[in-house]
Amino acid sequence: MRVVETVAECRELLQQARATGRTVGLVPTMGALHAGHISLMTRARAECEVVAVTIFVNPLQFGDPEDIAHYPRTLDRDVEACTEAGVDLVFAPSVLEMYPHWPAPVATTVSVVGVSEGWEGASRPGHFDGVATVVAKLFSIAGPSRAYFGEKDFQQLAVVRQMVADLSLPVEVVGCPIVRERDGLALSSRNVRLSPEERRAAVVLSRALATGRALLEGGVHYSSTLAEAMRQVVESEPLVRLDYAVAVGHQDLVAREIIEDPASVRLLIAAEVGPVRLIDNCAGLEVASTQAVPARHLERIA
Ligand code: PAJ
Repeated sequence: MRVVETVAECRELLQQARATGRTVGLVPTMGALHAGHISLMTRARAECEVVAVTIFVNPLQFGDPEDIAHYPRTLDRDVEACTEAGVDLVFAPSVLEMYPHWPAPVATTVSVVGVSEGWEGASRPGHFDGVATVVAKLFSIAGPSRAYFGEKDFQQLAVVRQMVADLSLPVEVVGCPIVRERDGLALSSRNVRLSPEERRAAVVLSRALATGRALLEGGVHYSSTLAEAMRQVVESEPLVRLDYAVAVGHQDLVAREIIEDPASVRLLIAAEVGPVRLIDNCAGLEVASTQAVPARHLERIA
């Protein structure tokens, strides 16, 4: 496995791989790798001939200086984890390699309107501009590829898909399921900052989502009923402060008062637990029942 720090080397190595007919899988991360990240690498390994992981704590997407200051950095361990996952290339640039004039503002940025405006976008102004800008740069450096993103950051996935479509970027975006702890807490690099009590309390996010989904499955059609039920679950835990708990369309992320098709709904939740902001989400119906039938099966059925 190669570890490179410059844009030029990363671009060159992936270009060479494509020149010999190999497909490239890209897994963008900010490091502090856990089983959620590894699941993306495993999927990329299974589907692509060359797998590149990027590790870069992108200052452009952090509003709160405290958050970036406390963001865990474990590069040596991350490189080991990538080796174990069968990754071919790790791109771990410095801030100056990515933004040569830093801390001067970056002159050219990418803004995705619409899908980036609510929820995380409303609570973290500028966050998705930072994400879209760095992901656009990473796609430009990597070149034509398949890029793997977790559904854990559901709105981020929607923003990246919109950007790729609008800018005709030569990248196929692949969304991957959320990896959870045994008690239901979604894995996150930020979880290490929770105290034992906060860690225990954090499970209310996934419990609230399960409550919302059970109501949907039971035939509840009103978004406000779901939101209220999810809010009550979170408020039963004094260590957790809810930001939002909503039912939205899974493509446009817009809240709808009346839900006609639970399969087209995504439940989103965000809360602060001690010093940490956590997000989670789930489909309105079990993924198995909402998954599209692969085209080759359709042909056979026809
Ligand atoms: P980061 O938080 O490191 O996440 C990298 C990728 O791992 C994202 O696609 C995220 O959705 C996925 N991921 C994180 N936790 C997961 C879990 N529990 N299950 C499945 N996937 C999970 O997201 C970012 O970095 C950055 O915003 C980035 C896209 C790299 C741009 O800087």
